Amino acid sequence: MSGNVQQPMGVVPQENGFHVDGSEGTNGTARFDPNFTDSVIDATGSKANPRVRKVVASLVRYMHDFCRENEITMSEFMAGVDMMNRAGQMSDDKRNETLLCLDILGVETLVDEITHKVVSEAPDLPTATAVLGPFWRKDAPIFKLGESIVKGFEDGERAFVYGKVLDFDTGEPIANAELDVWHAGSNGLYENQDPDQPEMNLRGRFYTNADGSYHFYCLRPTQYPIPLDGPGGELLNLLDRHPYRPAHIHFILSAEGYKPLVTQIFDRRDEYIDNDSVFAVKDSLVVDFKPRQGDEKAQSELEYDFKLVGYGKAVKS
Ligand code: BEZ
Ligand code: FE
Repeated sequence: MSGNVQQPMGVVPQENGFHVDGSEGTNGTARFDPNFTDSVIDATGSKANPRVRKVVASLVRYMHDFCRENEITMSEFMAGVDMMNRAGQMSDDKRNETLLCLDILGVETLVDEITHKVVSEAPDLPTATAVLGPFWRKDAPIFKLGESIVKGFEDGERAFVYGKVLDFDTGEPIANAELDVWHAGSNGLYENQDPDQPEMNLRGRFYTNADGSYHFYCLRPTQYPIPLDGPGGELLNLLDRHPYRPAHIHFILSAEGYKPLVTQIFDRRDEYIDNDSVFAVKDSLVVDFKPRQGDEKAQSELEYDFKLVGYGKAVKS
């Protein structure tokens, strides 16, 4: 390649005229082996799945460019490897530190947006998605409508949450839709982070009535810091960032014939509503709890309808 050929985007020429991506410098000499990245990509065998071939080739190219552009040293590289190893070692069915690190860097929110982008002619939109996060547990207890997911924590403010699950396209109610609900305790900890909370506290599954309606009791959620005792905390510290998530309730909605919806609703009054440490807040998911009258079981209430997209209905862009 001649020194005057236009550079690909993102390639930063060095002061000495060499190009950090390994292409020729102005004196015709490559700073790094210019063939190395292609030789790694070309090592992929003919039987590799086409999607794997494409995605891994792209990943290799971005990672190699990243290392060249930033002149990553062996000690920086090993520090990164060590961080990934420790995140993996800390992860199990109760904790996902690797996902937490990716959340801090906004990657889960971006992939969630890419996966769920829908194009619709309707003035309205289906309920927006939001990240799953590392604290969901499968097989949460099943409750009857109207029951409470609060097994411990006598102190936190109680909330009555109700609404309908609807078909986004037709507006028809969806019967027997499952709402899998979970949120943190008033001490800012999920049950699986906190040995003092009863097993499966503040988690539950509910099924809608024939008219698509649901209702249950929970705590009015509180803001909390994401865990700081692992590589995720180190990352926040290195980046001089705060760890707080605005108060929210998590939901996974599933119903036969509909795309599952993973989402969260966020309390507007929270001071971190515009500054979520994992970038998950979307305007349509911000809600206003109201004072609840005449119910000794709850001091506040929230009405929220979920709109699900049927399989084959909305067009993925
Ligand atoms: C959560 O809301 O549970 C969560 C999401 C992403 C990172 C950490 C926590
Ligand atoms: Fe959460």
